[in-house]
Amino acid sequence: ELVKKMVPGMEKLRFTNTGTEATMHALRTARGYTNKEKFVKFEGQYHGAHDYVLFSTASSPISGMGARRSPIPAQVGSGIPDKIRDYIYCLPFNDFDAVEQCVKDHHNEIATIMVEPCLGNIAGIEPQEGFLAHLKKLCDEYNMVLIFDEVKTGFRLSNGGARETYGVIPHISTYAKSLGNGFPVAAFGGSEEIMNVIGGGGVSHAGTFGANGASMAAAKAVLTILDESPVLENLAERGMRLKNGLDKILTDAGLAHQMSGHPNLQGFLITEKEVKEVRDLVHHDDELYETIMSHMYDRGVWMEDDAREPWFLCEAHTDEIIDETLDKFEESVKEAIA
Ligand SMILES: Cc1ncc(COP(=O)(O)O)c(C=O)c1O
Repeated sequence: ELVKKMVPGMEKLRFTNTGTEATMHALRTARGYTNKEKFVKFEGQYHGAHDYVLFSTASSPISGMGARRSPIPAQVGSGIPDKIRDYIYCLPFNDFDAVEQCVKDHHNEIATIMVEPCLGNIAGIEPQEGFLAHLKKLCDEYNMVLIFDEVKTGFRLSNGGARETYGVIPHISTYAKSLGNGFPVAAFGGSEEIMNVIGGGGVSHAGTFGANGASMAAAKAVLTILDESPVLENLAERGMRLKNGLDKILTDAGLAHQMSGHPNLQGFLITEKEVKEVRDLVHHDDELYETIMSHMYDRGVWMEDDAREPWFLCEAHTDEIIDETLDKFEESVKEAIA
């Protein structure tokens, strides 16, 4: 009930334990609903640890993804049956034409487009204006299910997640991380008509610990706090101050850079060219980023030294902590370029 109240267009929801389980069941549900088998995902996006989605993720080498015009799904690690590759189209994020062409060519086989609404595993890079709406339109037109993987964005960007923040309602969304604020709880849901294919000999969804009492109590507590106080709005204000501060320090230091992401899930890249998707990361200066972060570590602020992992804010990050982070960042940048 709380999720339905907070998330626009949420009609029916089922609980799982992990994000992986949520995307796996969402994919099966889309296949069961459309009676089609293949699906589209975007390069640089991570949807969990089941076989179908372990292709061209944020950690895949770009050199293994083939030409931009004819991408090759890059399998993540061994142990995935070879034929699984036949079910997936991996496309560059934010490329309106590539996805439209793929859908026009193959829509008879494509059950779903699964997308992280922003690149939650690459510095939080956001969708270009109209990109998510473009995906929705294609899905509506060609009998495909649009799945937003909101494992990172859900109950983080805003109470309604990417649906609210970007103003596009997909057919299904998946949730995990922030939903339990540390407890193992996840969910998938959306259109009642689509969710109704589950059960009664239709699409299977099962799991010993699904909707277990401890996780439900945790999720209820989290959602109640979010519903009753402006936690995420306050975070966004502090996040914006952090983002503006980092931006100014990098500008003053004369470093070409790109600030990215929503204030609650943000990042920056050291680059002279715009980064819109994973392949553009070749323009980013990994080494300098790592050096700055190691100087931060020496000063007592432990940041992830891989720029792909966004900076996530939480309620514990007070104004004082943000000020201290900015001070240490300024010193670290100066030391790195000295
Ligand atoms: C966008 C996204 N989807 C799915 C998953 C998988 O979630 P879990 O690790 O809970 O299985 C992750 C994990 O980081 C994720 O970032």
